[in-house]
Amino acid sequence: MTNKKCLVCAAPLSPFISYGRMPIANGFLPRDKFAEEYFFEMRVAYCPSCHMVQLIEQPEREMMFNENYAFFSGTSTTMTAHFQRFAQDVMRDYLGSDPFVVEIGSNDGIMLKNFAEKKIRHLGIEPSANVAKVASERGIKTVSRFFEKDLAREILAEHGQADAFLAANAMCHIPYAHSIAEGVKILLKPEGVMIFEDPYLGDVLEKTSYDQIYDEHVFLFSVQSISQLFARHGLEVIDVKAQGTHGGSMRYFIAHKGARPISASVGAQIKKEKKLGLDEPKTYDKFRRNCERSRDELKKLLLDLKKQGRRVAGYAATSKSTTITNYCGITTDLVEFISDTTPIKQGKFSPGVHIPVLPYEKFKEKYPDYALLFGWNHFEEITRKEQGFRDAGGKWILYVPKVHVLN
Ligand code: SAH
Ligand code: TMP
Ligand code: ZN
Repeated sequence: MTNKKCLVCAAPLSPFISYGRMPIANGFLPRDKFAEEYFFEMRVAYCPSCHMVQLIEQPEREMMFNENYAFFSGTSTTMTAHFQRFAQDVMRDYLGSDPFVVEIGSNDGIMLKNFAEKKIRHLGIEPSANVAKVASERGIKTVSRFFEKDLAREILAEHGQADAFLAANAMCHIPYAHSIAEGVKILLKPEGVMIFEDPYLGDVLEKTSYDQIYDEHVFLFSVQSISQLFARHGLEVIDVKAQGTHGGSMRYFIAHKGARPISASVGAQIKKEKKLGLDEPKTYDKFRRNCERSRDELKKLLLDLKKQGRRVAGYAATSKSTTITNYCGITTDLVEFISDTTPIKQGKFSPGVHIPVLPYEKFKEKYPDYALLFGWNHFEEITRKEQGFRDAGGKWILYVPKVHVLN
């Protein structure tokens, strides 16, 4: 899918950066599949009219979300705890009588299991069949389909309207945002609330965390762009809450227009966004320069370490690492292997640059001199667990917000 016009408001887009040829970020592959690997040009644009930041080209949804989807939400204990708190907040604040909760992009059930345990009526919509199966096997009611307006009608007919419609790190994956908003409009009870969170544009720009940009993330949201999107469907943002997850996210609360009071946090955040220049083209020029600088510095650091004969391994084969390795041109001569705990990724090669992905035990068996932390968003969880690496003289390399070696 290539769009020259804004996916939200159809205004002509202003492209501001190309990261070059990119593969499917979660497309970890065996050697015999190298020849048929898919690539697209990853260009990002800003909409001067509704301020939505978006990919110009995105691969077909089935190429990314299918029965071989490599991302299992439950691999991080911090995220498991985060979604438990998220679910508890929803139960406390938003459930009426005979409550019903819907979640899109429910993955392995990391969020919905909290509702299932309390016997609250729920439904997960998860197109990637392998992760959906894990959720179903845990007793979480899951449909393996792509959510869109038509499916909302089917759900309505079978289950009735929902008190809460949830999504985490899923809305920003879906280019047909109007169909989703229409579906939400159909499914939400008059007092119902949609609550979703995604990596926040403000954080990405401030921290130069450009690795949040990859095939799946077709949008980088701000309160301004989200307000404009939902306003077109008689829905409005009633609250926003910043989150520390995924390097800085924003949680948005959406309700039928006029149904609930609007918190002061919405206007306050929009004010901050204007101060940050999220609605000014020059901000995106600066971001491009920051990305280029970050890329050059990381490449130089890795080349220097190679010259010194140091061993460098990658830590966590995240989807984000696909952007970093391909944009910076990091191949196995600079990073020997990437350690990851996800069985479906192990024994395969990283997308595009084909760095071997090895089980975590390989990292522990023989520590490298340096570990490039691709899972920097899990910094605390990982460095706590890996005190042994530090004790053995190992050093972490970080590239957000700046390229540096942790001393
Ligand atoms: N909510 C989880 C998973 C995020 S990954 C978490 O935060 O950890 C994004 C998920 O969205 C994937 O599992 C993907 O299969 C799913 N997805 C993509 N398009 C979708 C759509 N149209 N409807 C529902 N889920 C979708
Ligand atoms: P994420 O950054 O998109 O959440 O991806 C998490 C990836 O990091 C996933 O492939 C599992 C991997 N990982 C590890 O290998 N070790 C860890 O300790 C953690 C927290 C994640
Ligand atoms: Zn627009």
